[in-house]
Amino acid sequence: MEQELSLPPARPVSESQSEMIQMVLPNDANPLGALLGGTLMHWIDLAGALAGHRHTRTPLVTASIDSLSFLVPVQVGEIVILKSSVNRAFRTSLEVGVKVWMEAFSGERKHVSSAYLTFVSIDRAFRPQPIPGILPETEEQKRRYQEAGRRREIRQAEMARKKAAKGR
Ligand SMILES: CC(C)(COP(=O)(O)OP(=O)(O)OC[C@H]1O[C@@H](n2cnc3c(N)ncnc32)[C@H](O)[C@@H]1OP(=O)(O)O)[C@@H](O)C(=O)NCCC(=O)NCCS
Repeated sequence: MEQELSLPPARPVSESQSEMIQMVLPNDANPLGALLGGTLMHWIDLAGALAGHRHTRTPLVTASIDSLSFLVPVQVGEIVILKSSVNRAFRTSLEVGVKVWMEAFSGERKHVSSAYLTFVSIDRAFRPQPIPGILPETEEQKRRYQEAGRRREIRQAEMARKKAAKGR
């Protein structure tokens, strides 16, 4: 309870919104010169952690990543832009949205992927720790906040279903 009382006040979404930019190098690509899905997943995880960490200012672990689709291929030499934003903070966990674009040589941008990640704030013994609340300010942030609540309900139902199936 003491820890709950000493939590910092809720922080606005804008304080932790982040952007990460990567150029695709040959080592990131398959033999056809297209960015590997696994490399992009790694960048998505990092971009999400960046916003999550800026919000909590504590160590975080990735608890889950919702389903991922890759919409267009990205070639070596092209640029990948990953924008991350905390959608909602719960008790010890938070949902971060990451939206990914590619920027071609011409400057044209295309949407590559979108992901929702759940991070959990932990102490040195890996025990979940309470986190500050989040203040959505714009209409878009408020919409994302509401939607994150619905996605959490779906995740929790799925976790309960898996737990029950394991016990059978
Ligand atoms: C994530 C982890 C800390 C949760 O620990 P736990 O003992 O299950 O903790 P709890 O049941 O108390 O849940 C803590 C929070 O995590 C959330 N959570 C747990 N598992 C989750 C999952 N699979 N997806 C989303 N959220 C999850 C809970 O909803 C809870 O959130 P809340 O406090 O905001 O309500 C633990 O499973 C862990 O350390 N996993 C490994 C993480 C890791 O190493 N990731 C890197 C890749 S391996």
